Amino acid sequence: MKLTSVTLAAVLIGSTAFAAEVGPKEVKYNDDTAIEMSLTGMAGDPTKGAVIMGTKSKGNCVACHEITALSNAPFQGNVGPILDGAGDRWSAGELRGLVVNAKMMFEGSVMPSFYQVDGFTRPGNAYTGKAGKEPLAPLLSAQEIEDVVAFLTTLKDE
Ligand code: HEC
Repeated sequence: MKLTSVTLAAVLIGSTAFAAEVGPKEVKYNDDTAIEMSLTGMAGDPTKGAVIMGTKSKGNCVACHEITALSNAPFQGNVGPILDGAGDRWSAGELRGLVVNAKMMFEGSVMPSFYQVDGFTRPGNAYTGKAGKEPLAPLLSAQEIEDVVAFLTTLKDE
């Protein structure tokens, strides 16, 4: 490949973005429940966050949570609390901590850890030995987590 200055710049920008991203194993909780620092250093996009939360192959948060703002999602479950007003109840750091690994806030939660690659409680392994080998890919990417957090912070009661 001929390295033009354009491709070189693209490679440099690409690797800088990667270096700035906080990986699933580097996440730092500030007080065991909140992650104050953005995982990517880039603002999340609430519109994308809403799509991720309502999409089955992505966050699929609506499988367990009702969210009035996503009322056009085909199904909304009630395993977890209604998320209306979540942006009033929790800080952005707490919401990030919750989505990355809900077990930090709620011990033994059935809510999936969306940004974790190992250390899972995995009954599948004990019962069937068929659970996949860790580390697994996180359910959501760092930027997808930021998008979801950005949308959650818009969920205000007023
Ligand atoms: C398998 C069910 C399930 C899924 C899927 C799930 N959650 Fe939860 N979530 C829960 C439960 C249950 C709780 C309540 C805490 C507990 O007891 O574990 C909860 C709690 C929460 C809370 C705090 C509740 C409050 O007071 O506002 C937030 C915020 C939240 N979830 C966001 C999400 C987001 C965002 C997603 C998708 C990326 C998601 N959840 C996916 C089950 C789920």
